[in-house]
Amino acid sequence: MAERIFIGVAWPYANGPLHLGHVAGCYLPADIFARFHRAQGNQVLMVSGSDQHGTPITVRAEQEGKSPAEVAEQYHNSFLGSWEQLGISFDLFTRTGTDNHTQVTHSIFNDLLEKGFIYKAIMPLPYCPKESRFLPDRYVHGTCPHCSNKDARGDQCDECGKPLNAVDLIEPSCSFCGTAPEIRDSEHYFLRLSAFNAQLATWVEEHPHWRPNVYNFTKRLLADGLFDRAITRDIEWGVRVPVAGFENKRIYVWFEAVIGYLSASKEWAAERGEPDAWQEFWQAPTKSYYFIGKDNISFHTIIWPAMIMGHGALSLPYDVPANEFLNLEGRQLSTSRNWAVWVPDYLERYDPDPLRYVLSVNMPEAADTDFSWREFVRRNNDELVATYGNLVHRVLTFTYRNFDGKVPDPGAFDDSSNAILRKAEDVSKTVAEHISLCHFREAIKTAMSLAQEANRYLDEKSPWKSIRSDRTEAATSLYIAISVITYLKTLLYPFLPFSSEKLHKLLGLEGMIRDKGWVFELPAPGTQLAQPEALFVKLDDTTVEKETAKLGVK
Ligand code: MF3
Ligand code: ZN
Repeated sequence: MAERIFIGVAWPYANGPLHLGHVAGCYLPADIFARFHRAQGNQVLMVSGSDQHGTPITVRAEQEGKSPAEVAEQYHNSFLGSWEQLGISFDLFTRTGTDNHTQVTHSIFNDLLEKGFIYKAIMPLPYCPKESRFLPDRYVHGTCPHCSNKDARGDQCDECGKPLNAVDLIEPSCSFCGTAPEIRDSEHYFLRLSAFNAQLATWVEEHPHWRPNVYNFTKRLLADGLFDRAITRDIEWGVRVPVAGFENKRIYVWFEAVIGYLSASKEWAAERGEPDAWQEFWQAPTKSYYFIGKDNISFHTIIWPAMIMGHGALSLPYDVPANEFLNLEGRQLSTSRNWAVWVPDYLERYDPDPLRYVLSVNMPEAADTDFSWREFVRRNNDELVATYGNLVHRVLTFTYRNFDGKVPDPGAFDDSSNAILRKAEDVSKTVAEHISLCHFREAIKTAMSLAQEANRYLDEKSPWKSIRSDRTEAATSLYIAISVITYLKTLLYPFLPFSSEKLHKLLGLEGMIRDKGWVFELPAPGTQLAQPEALFVKLDDTTVEKETAKLGVK
């Protein structure tokens, strides 16, 4: 029976273009998962949007001499272009600046307020006397009170992973001007997280299928004990607080950004002219998956679930397959030092599928991984071009030339022919299993092993030789090879959608894989093939030098 799957993907701050870390961290895995499930015939709703609020945007706006709204708009448009070109198939990619999002945020806020899960209290906050303003948590630096890391930020410590209150930092200083902040009182709303500690702990226990990093990290936070957190701020840029007397304050970016999953679902439904269609995606038996980077875990396994528990009537996350980080040439990505590969820049020179391929086989699922241009070129040339592309190309060109451009009529299958067809069938089951468990690296490697196997089969059969002695034998081995290729284009579709759709056409098949789904049928003899074309382009060695020379240059 068809399932319903909700896929939420982390909302990127609209303060700069996307880089490969974003893609490997959550957008590519989410897209693989969504394409797979749609192809399986399941109903998928995949949403995200630009996170347009928060200090990342205001700081960027100050640097560029623009308004926060202009910055948010500029990068939102940049994101839309990148999704399109990379093939990240959102059902809706919206932004937190919409009226709909404000409304949904206000209704959740008011509901939690009424139920007593949000309350008002006085809070001591860091205030920079030199700049006469309250400082956002993450713009206070100091020593972590838990692990003594000297470089902790006021919102969390990246060393021990614990969430912090800026006023608890030891020897704090203002990140903008270095002044030691004063502590001043301010009235704010708090989310009563402490009330959900036990309920969350029970809920997490019921999810042993979570990745170990996500599961253990969450359990540790719960064991340490949750404290209530302020969800409003003394700032001007953000969603208004729907309470009189709070006109000069805004809702904290994280509290409203996670509500984006719900507001985007409602917007998607309204846009389709079925305003209630979002509901089925937020109720059992729909499973919801949240694809995020590891720095966002607590917001998706604690804060958002607590908000849902308080609100009631909406499904909790089923899985939160957070990825670790992608490094670049052995060093941590740094946007400020321009140690990053920017997606719009990449797409000016290269195709999307090689990137999707390289980031899939090397996805940081269980540990940080590294992207290097050398490895990119090597995998493109040795694996995509030489293994998969070459298999397809030699089979299709040879068949096209020798069998009137049609799928040949095979004779009887011998043992090795039957064996490789069986292997294709097995591989397709294994790949599906891996993808549904969010094991994307294993999935694509397993699919590629079928291409290797098919090359071996073809070398053994050598139809280019047998065609001179036994035309039926050549026809049979080509028919089998075309069959395996037919499997491969579907198995690789979630990962390499552009080349798979192209191959689908080259094989003379109607429609698109996207619509035809996860089906593996042997090709019909006599099917007219399209004029063969290469699927991938070989990259020359100067690519590595050229691209690495650009890194770190501002
Ligand atoms: N904007 C945040 C970041 O880039 C992610 C927000 S995810 C959300 O780290 F779901 F909470 F919006
Ligand atoms: Zn300051």
